[in-house]
Amino acid sequence: MRKIIAATLAAGLVGGLPLAAQATNPQQDLKEFRAYFMERFPDTQFQDFSNGVYSIDAPSRAQWESIEEFPPYELAVDDGREMWNTPFGNGKTYADCFPDGEDGIRQNYPYWNGNTVKTLEQEINECRETNGEKPLGWKKGKIAALSAYLAYQSRGKPIDVKVPNDAALEWYEQGKQHFYSKRGQLNFSCANCHVDSAGMLIRADKLSPALGHVTHFPVFRSKWGELGTLHRRYGGCNKQVRAKPFPAQSDEYRALEYFHTYMSNGIEVNGPGARK
Ligand code: HEC
Repeated sequence: MRKIIAATLAAGLVGGLPLAAQATNPQQDLKEFRAYFMERFPDTQFQDFSNGVYSIDAPSRAQWESIEEFPPYELAVDDGREMWNTPFGNGKTYADCFPDGEDGIRQNYPYWNGNTVKTLEQEINECRETNGEKPLGWKKGKIAALSAYLAYQSRGKPIDVKVPNDAALEWYEQGKQHFYSKRGQLNFSCANCHVDSAGMLIRADKLSPALGHVTHFPVFRSKWGELGTLHRRYGGCNKQVRAKPFPAQSDEYRALEYFHTYMSNGIEVNGPGARK
């Protein structure tokens, strides 16, 4: 082990490895990320971080629990199920693209496919195009419904995102940089709000911890009056600091999703969710 470390260090110094490859260790990042939130919110169980701000705020939790009694996303899950069961024009179905879809696949996304980082929504549209159907809009509507159905099938499965090699690590590093970089006129990073200030108020909103952030997407937001995907939320959060959002499914947001989801490894999928 020592030898490997020494060799890596030497290669880093002599061979001029990119800084990212020297500095980033996803497992170490994950350990520190978790430890920070567990220490900051000692009354919250690790798995309960999947409930966002409701994991750390008792008054809003009670309100949310009553919303969950008649979940506003239920119809969307039904729509997604119907899409799943309806054959394309060529007679094939989504199950031909996602053979394990009904057993739950959400927890494995995004993943490194040997060439790039793939998200579930991206593969839903690729499946459609392969089968001669038009791609869907990325942020809401039908794609969110099918994604909600697939998340529902994965409920209870722990997030299991892997960074298998150096090429994947570069994507992870790019996402990590997005997360920690200050941006917009307000000059805030994701981490400024969802790590440093988690639990604090910003206008009327209490800020959710970034640990467990992604487990419940897509989300039915009362403000939207409908479901939205994770990349829709990213766009909204970029806009909050008056930064220009990136397009849904851009390299930038897929890299962010990769890092952001890795940080929730081990927490069970509980999507779709409801938020205000
Ligand atoms: C100026 C503060 C601010 C910044 C910066 C910010 N957000 Fe948010 N974000 C919010 C607020 C407010 C909400 C709604 C309340 C909540 O759940 O935290 C929110 C909600 C979210 C949610 C939904 C949480 C849930 O439980 O459904 C996600 C995911 C999220 N933000 C990710 C990000 C990411 C990724 C970035 C960086 C691109 C970012 N945010 C930057 C303020 C911010």
